[in-house]
Amino acid sequence: MSNLKVKIAPSLLSADFSILGDEIEKVTAAGADWLHVDVMDGNFVPNLTLGMPVIKSLKPRTKIPMDVHLMIERPERYIESFISAGADSLTLHVEASQHLEDSFKKIKSLGCKPGITLRPGTSLETLKPYLHLVELVLVMTVEPGFGGQSFMQDQVSKISTLKIWREQKIGNYLIEVDGGINEKTAPICIAAGADILVAGNAVFTGEKTVSNYQNNISKLR
Ligand code: DX5
Ligand code: ZN
Repeated sequence: MSNLKVKIAPSLLSADFSILGDEIEKVTAAGADWLHVDVMDGNFVPNLTLGMPVIKSLKPRTKIPMDVHLMIERPERYIESFISAGADSLTLHVEASQHLEDSFKKIKSLGCKPGITLRPGTSLETLKPYLHLVELVLVMTVEPGFGGQSFMQDQVSKISTLKIWREQKIGNYLIEVDGGINEKTAPICIAAGADILVAGNAVFTGEKTVSNYQNNISKLR
């Protein structure tokens, strides 16, 4: 049975970078809810992707929110720049910054959704001091850095724990899951309590047409 409540956020990392604007228009027309943008600095993770100028030039190509996942060291340096480029949510890694509290407050004061995330090896407990400050918690189900990796089943308990913590009013956040999401793993995450599923390969696989992307997205719901 399909779940129409869950939001799908295609990850641009798996799109064709030579035609990013067209890809965004197509996934938007295909029913994507958010657009997930992975920013990597070759330092926090061993890969480089894109930054503010690319986000800024892509922003006018869609009306859906741009969900920016920062896999960079000391992300506090770039908060204003990413928000003025067009980020609607900005997610920081708990391992990447010593200034998380101030950063989340700043993100919120600039009218953007603050999000927090963690590497698979990091304990969920490390997020606890910040959960009252964020609107989004991203559970990584692969090691950050690359698209197309296999889903780490052992991370699913973090989704259910976050759901319980939310019920206990430890915070009021959406639960997002990122990495290895496909037809088989999406239902596991939805059952555990995910509100938003990020999917790269599963959305952008096959023909570059609205109808193919629509079909790929509907398989995840
Ligand atoms: C990994 C990124 C993910 C990635 C997901 O560092 O955060 O967003 O693009 O890609 P798939 O869905 O292919 O695992
Ligand atoms: Zn991501």
